[in-house]
Amino acid sequence: MLNFILKTNQFEPILIERATGSWIVDVNGKKYLDCESGMWCCNLGHNPPEIIEVIKTQSSKIIHRNKGFLNPVTIKAAEKLLDFIPGDYDKITFLNSGSEAVEFAINFAKKITKRKNVLSLKDSYLGAFGIAKDISFTSQEKMEFKLDYPISEGDDSDNLEEFIKKANSVINNQADDIACFVLEPIMIGGGVLKPCSKFVEHICNRMKEIRALVIVDEVTTGFGRAGKKFGYELFDITPDILALGKALGNGYPVSAIVTRSDLEEKLSPSELYYAQSHQLDPLGTSIALKVVELYESKEVIEKSKKTIEKLHSFLKSLSYPFIQEVKSFGLIYAIEFRVFNKLSTSDLVLKIKDDLLEAGVMIGYSTRKEQIRFLPPLIITDEEIEFLQKKIIQVFDSILKL
Ligand SMILES: Cc1ncc(COP(=O)(O)O)c(C=O)c1O
Repeated sequence: MLNFILKTNQFEPILIERATGSWIVDVNGKKYLDCESGMWCCNLGHNPPEIIEVIKTQSSKIIHRNKGFLNPVTIKAAEKLLDFIPGDYDKITFLNSGSEAVEFAINFAKKITKRKNVLSLKDSYLGAFGIAKDISFTSQEKMEFKLDYPISEGDDSDNLEEFIKKANSVINNQADDIACFVLEPIMIGGGVLKPCSKFVEHICNRMKEIRALVIVDEVTTGFGRAGKKFGYELFDITPDILALGKALGNGYPVSAIVTRSDLEEKLSPSELYYAQSHQLDPLGTSIALKVVELYESKEVIEKSKKTIEKLHSFLKSLSYPFIQEVKSFGLIYAIEFRVFNKLSTSDLVLKIKDDLLEAGVMIGYSTRKEQIRFLPPLIITDEEIEFLQKKIIQVFDSILKL
């Protein structure tokens, strides 16, 4: 059966059938604790009943329409989301994927500034195609625009001045050609890494000075994932454009870009024109509306604080000779490994991922940064955390015996 599916990915040797909350069940009835929240999307867990209800109700009315028509639920979702986001944003459009949102934001910035160059940080993952991909770690294109940066959990870093000097020379050499800087507040796909706050703030200030725009890619860090409502709140910056995705649809493909009317006003109708079949569709926007309502009514972000603390303390308390470092930012966690016995770091990463899967825990991993990764649903319960802790200890103890 797998033979019919293009091998665009390394598929795990199980077939999954259904999911609820933090759990996924395979075709044989085996349960797995989903510590990746799908693809970092299901912050509210899989299939919350309120979202299933909205899907049923909205799809019985209208799923899709021609691009020339709007639906009341879309307008309500826009208003609700803008109200939810801190800052002075008053314009939005809904799209389908995170990649599309970032790509839209970049093209919007290019048209406004009438410039062509786009900067990022070198370990960012910003999208699967287009310029967003070119400036991601997954591409060898546009290497000159991917800034080297200091990694630091805090505001400062020892070699900050050196990095700033290098970045300044990249920026100063092309100041009149830079349209925007795209920031992934905490890098995840490229390895869980936080850029030093002062560095990020410096780059964003330089963008203001050269009249380039700051885009923040909140596709993964948004909606409480990084410990704040949005990842940009970790820094003292004021983005011009936000790209949202993933958690906005809690597993349904809806994304958005958020900006200000003074930027929109700089473009003529033909420059602003953008159309694809499912932009602003009622089904996706009704789900986005419900997601925001649930965040508010269930106080999801406030309640996740205790979970963050619990997982942070547990992971930081782990003491095994093969652990190099534990990274922890909100509900984004990674364990980085060092060589142990005859196992290389990538062997360790893959073995631990496979052993945890066997033990009923789905995790993410990056052999590039020798990390395993946990981005569980924000609503993960205390019992589920205990289950996770037990399984991690069991698997790590078994590695010691190798
Ligand atoms: C930070 C970030 N930006 C953009 C994307 C692309 O989003 P999508 O996969 O929905 O196109 C991702 C996906 O992992 C992401 O993590």
